[in-house]
Amino acid sequence: MKELIKQVVECYGPAGNEKAIRELIAGIIAPFVDEMRVDNLGNLIALKRGGDKKLMFAAHMDEIGVMVTHVDKHGFLRFYPVGGVSPLTMLGNRVVFENGTTGVIGSEKLEAQKDLTLNKMFIDIGASTKEEAEAKVRIGDLGAVSREFVDLGPRLVAKAMDARVACAVLIEALKTVANPAHDIYAVFTTQEELGLRGARVAAYSVSPDLGIALDVTRTGDTPSSMIMDVSLGKGPAVKIRDSSVLCTPAVRRYMEQVAKDNSIPYQLEVLEAGGTDAGAIQLTQGGIPAGVMSIPCRYVHTASEMVDYADVENGVKLVRAIMETKYTG
Ligand code: ZN
Ligand code: CO
Repeated sequence: MKELIKQVVECYGPAGNEKAIRELIAGIIAPFVDEMRVDNLGNLIALKRGGDKKLMFAAHMDEIGVMVTHVDKHGFLRFYPVGGVSPLTMLGNRVVFENGTTGVIGSEKLEAQKDLTLNKMFIDIGASTKEEAEAKVRIGDLGAVSREFVDLGPRLVAKAMDARVACAVLIEALKTVANPAHDIYAVFTTQEELGLRGARVAAYSVSPDLGIALDVTRTGDTPSSMIMDVSLGKGPAVKIRDSSVLCTPAVRRYMEQVAKDNSIPYQLEVLEAGGTDAGAIQLTQGGIPAGVMSIPCRYVHTASEMVDYADVENGVKLVRAIMETKYTG
């Protein structure tokens, strides 16, 4: 499965320009689903038939990035963040645009390091004049972090693990599920990083009986980290809450029961800040029961997000077991 993860995390796809990653995923899942469509927000909605109730899984395929706001006369680009982009992690990084143009992120001279803000930073694409730059990149163009996948054995590192590792989990579960107990809607959503936008309209049109978002979550297991009871290697996390959602208790209990019945290790998650597609799904129509399974991830929203491979494998097992177990909540 590492090859699949490498393929999906390395693909270009900042929020608002998910075409390449959508086409990649559609090509991979086509043999394993009964129907597939793309809606007006670019969500990829696949259906695998199996039962009377509709179970929707949502994994967001967009990633954080930058949008070009201005090209100066020396060919430097100014940019605005697309999603939760920190200046601390962007300096010295490389971004790539849809046409393959790569740039380096630099900063103006600062009095102190704490003065580093995104509006003091720029992208250098190797151009010397405005005209030269504009031949490659124009305002409104979206850049994503450029960084290769690294396999450390038990741990994997890449940009966009948030939430492509969750996309890979959903793909792998679709490939290997034997007897789905529901009509499974596997939705690869867009614009999550801009406020759960794709999931909102996808949940409305699918109108599921039950929605489960698949994403990454933060951990509390690095030196002097924030206090959080999630660690790498202790299994996928069953979410209790984040800033966007209080998971429906019946859904959480169902997910926990499925994990226990199948001897899949899991941990409970309380995330203080951050949202997931479940927040949008739950508040659709008259309210939809919603839960989240998270893959624990260190250094979220940096160019080097780290997950544990056993957590990923156990995440696939849990998603597959959920697909195969009737929800009676
Ligand atoms: Zn995410
Ligand atoms: Co994110």
